[in-house]
Amino acid sequence: MSEVFRPFERLVEINILGRTFLVPEKNSVLRCFQFISPDTIPYGRFCWNQDCQYCRVNCQLQDDDQARPILSCKFMVSEGMNISELAPELVGCLRSKLGQELKSEEVKP
Ligand code: FES
Repeated sequence: MSEVFRPFERLVEINILGRTFLVPEKNSVLRCFQFISPDTIPYGRFCWNQDCQYCRVNCQLQDDDQARPILSCKFMVSEGMNISELAPELVGCLRSKLGQELKSEEVKP
C-alpha cells in the first residue's frame, strides 16, 4: 500500500477534531486521511481531483490566525495543522478513528 503515498522521511503531527495523529509529510491531507484510515478512505466517493468537493475541511495552519476552508485532495499536509471541520463524506470515513465524541454539530455540509 505504501506506493499510494508520495515518498516521505518522517511523520508529522496533525490534529483532527481534537485528536492527534501522525501522518506522512509531503502528502495531500486526503492522502493522510487514507494513512489514518486505509480501510475506508479508498472506498469513499472522492474524485481526488478537486472536483467533487467531498474532501472539504476547515483547517488552521500553525502560523495562521484563523481557520480556512481547503480541499484536502489538493492541499499538502504540514506539521501542527489543526482540522476543525470535516465534510460529511469524510466524517463517515473517519468516524471509527475519531471515536464517539464526533457529533453532528461538528459536521458542515
Ligand atoms: S476529492 Fe474531490 S474535490 Fe477533493
